[in-house]
Amino acid sequence: MNIRRISSEDTDALARFFLTLTPAQRKDFHPHPFTTKMAERIAHGSAIAGPVWVATEREHIVGYVFLSGGIDDWPQLGIAVSPAETGRGLGTELVATAVEWARTNGKCGVVLTVYQDNVAAIRTYDKVGFRPTRALWFMEVDFSPTSYHTTLGGSGGGSPPRVKD
Ligand SMILES: CC(C)(COP(=O)(O)OP(=O)(O)OC[C@H]1O[C@@H](n2cnc3c(N)ncnc32)[C@H](O)[C@@H]1OP(=O)(O)O)[C@@H](O)C(=O)NCCC(=O)NCCS
Repeated sequence: MNIRRISSEDTDALARFFLTLTPAQRKDFHPHPFTTKMAERIAHGSAIAGPVWVATEREHIVGYVFLSGGIDDWPQLGIAVSPAETGRGLGTELVATAVEWARTNGKCGVVLTVYQDNVAAIRTYDKVGFRPTRALWFMEVDFSPTSYHTTLGGSGGGSPPRVKD
């Protein structure tokens, strides 16, 4: 396994990596859609305003992490690991790589948001030193008869509040 910064040559490998992610993993990740167009924009440096690292195994990308934008030198972290590689320490290694970069590049810290039911991600972040600071509610007004997010197994439960006419 090798962790390195992404390059413009990685478009196809990144798009193939996106295809390996399960619906459940996609539901847990919110910074951007997993499309080929997005893979191209990320590899060419136009989608994420900050460093991006990929983990590779025999030319295949099996995980990636990035730090984007952020306010007052607190960049925001995003990460995904291919399901075949989860549970082997790669997520922890990728997060540690990004945090170490932030530490040695004069950043004040690193922030992220994570769903309360994403135990794998919370455990991973905890291991690298992230601690919860504020709770964030994911809210929606649902125009369909059956809510997309609650039927996918989200932790919200019940019907979302109805909007009066
Ligand atoms: C979150 C994610 C990056 C973790 O990657 P990973 O390679 O499995 O992480 P690690 O192998 O380093 O595991 C880190 C810790 O999480 C634990 N963990 C991993 N998967 C778990 C699961 N499904 N349930 C409970 N704990 C889990 C590991 O056991 C380990 O803790 P330990 O050392 O105390 O045993 C990966 O699951 C993923 O890509 N998820 C989908 C995208 C996502 O949720 N991104 C984050 C959005 S905020």
